[in-house]
Amino acid sequence: MKIQVAPSILAGDFSKMGETVEKLERCGADMIHCDVMDGNFVPPITFGAQMVASLRPHTRLPLDCHLMVLHPETQLESFQKAGADIVSVHVEVCDGHSLIQQIHALGMKACIAVNPETDIKRLFPFAEEADMLLVMSVHPGYGGQKFIEESLEKIEKLKNYCIDHGLSDRSIEVDGGVSAENAQSVIAAGADVLVAGSAVFRAPDMAEMIGRLKSKQAD
Ligand code: DX5
Ligand code: ZN
Repeated sequence: MKIQVAPSILAGDFSKMGETVEKLERCGADMIHCDVMDGNFVPPITFGAQMVASLRPHTRLPLDCHLMVLHPETQLESFQKAGADIVSVHVEVCDGHSLIQQIHALGMKACIAVNPETDIKRLFPFAEEADMLLVMSVHPGYGGQKFIEESLEKIEKLKNYCIDHGLSDRSIEVDGGVSAENAQSVIAAGADVLVAGSAVFRAPDMAEMIGRLKSKQAD
């Protein structure tokens, strides 16, 4: 599958997000990963649908909204109005089937996410109806953390489940601690969408880093 890179704006400068997403698009990003945190599901509060609406005119790239919130069902309509393309909700806090239906009814793509401590099998029932499945490879809440190595096995199990059930084209997104050093293993395990915050924003040349992450496919 084609490897896509979704830079997380959490690692960017919040005072100039419009310019940042324009730059990410010029640098070859495939989508913009927006980390929405509510101070409940995770300790920090970042931003909500209003930020997504402000970013919408600055890019044509899909806005990939990762809702780290306790009550995602209350937010779906606002995100749709804001121009979100993909909405990820956590399996730990919602009835995935119902949320996928609601997200689809609003015309957006649906993704179900799992935390590192959650059994990967919890995602299996959604593999068919979701557009994407998200494996967290750090504990959600903060950028810049170290990739949890055990995530590779979880990605592999999920990928194998998808292959065994005729869903080999289902996108698997990996989020947290992804870098040029581990991208190859993450892809080999079965991921095709790489979220990268620190790796992209701390790189001296963003375009080169995004290109490098994507090129891992061919290694
Ligand atoms: C963590 C977020 C991630 C994070 C990734 O809660 O969901 O998207 O921003 O950042 P890095 O790539 O720095 O781990
Ligand atoms: Zn995220």
